[in-house]
Amino acid sequence: MKKLYAVLGDPIGQSMSPIMHNDLFSYYQMDAAYHPFQVKSEDLKAAILGLRAIGISGFNVTVPHKSTIIPLLDGVDELAMSIGAVNTVVNEDGRFVGYNTDGLGFLKGLSTYLPSISDRKVLVIGAGGAARAIYFTLAYNKPQVIDIANRTIEKAEELIEACPFEVSSRALALNDANNHLEDYDVIIQTTMIGMSPKVLEQPLMITNLNPHALVCDIIYNPLETKLLKEARQRGATTQNGLDMFVYQGALAFEKWTGITPDVQRMKENVLKQLGGTQNVNR
Ligand code: ATR
Repeated sequence: MKKLYAVLGDPIGQSMSPIMHNDLFSYYQMDAAYHPFQVKSEDLKAAILGLRAIGISGFNVTVPHKSTIIPLLDGVDELAMSIGAVNTVVNEDGRFVGYNTDGLGFLKGLSTYLPSISDRKVLVIGAGGAARAIYFTLAYNKPQVIDIANRTIEKAEELIEACPFEVSSRALALNDANNHLEDYDVIIQTTMIGMSPKVLEQPLMITNLNPHALVCDIIYNPLETKLLKEARQRGATTQNGLDMFVYQGALAFEKWTGITPDVQRMKENVLKQLGGTQNVNR
């Protein structure tokens, strides 16, 4: 029987996940399909009951359901529980088990540029849900420092307080971060500032950027945000959000099917949909 996979979110129209996973199913000759479903917050519980009833094999959840899904599941893995967010659910013999592949997806993408982050000084910009997944996952991998710069400094402090893994961290105001920017080897922009259509926005000034730094932005639309463009012009290496998106999808696909998918193929497929070219990434 055909296996069904899905992504639940609101809105969901812009999601690239269906294109990415359906291409993999056909490439690996699997009788399976992946479908997007727009589910309002108040309907999430009913949607999960429906997915149980039809015996769905697995699904992704995206904004705004990543935290509220947790009490509706039968089990949640340790990292996802500490992050407080699930983006991937696997039907394990009738039990819906939640995982978080966002932070690990980011880390996998990062490792294509930096094989190890130990001894690195990292600055995370933002303190929302995406920052939380990335910060906790990086903290587990023990870089020398991970500081957090955020518009609301209290939220950065809360994130540092909540982290279950020991790492040296300070909370900074956004306008203060630029004053110390040359200290950091890796800068990770995790907010939606600069995303299409507001492409002229940038979360902070980067006039003190270390030209040897790696600057990552989790946004992939546009492929080069204003922040990344300026970082590139200042001599830094840049990485857009495409790798994180593709690797979180690859990790989910692997959990569902046991197959480690061809990440390069996934990347080219998404790039084709975005109308970009590979070399925009570097
Ligand atoms: P997500 O789950 O996608 O990370 P979120 O939880 O709403 O989204 O977090 C959004 C992040 O973007 C936060 O760090 C937020 O800063 P605040 O904590 O001060 O709200 C940041 N952000 C959003 N709009 C911003 C803006 N105009 N300027 C600076 N930071 C902004």
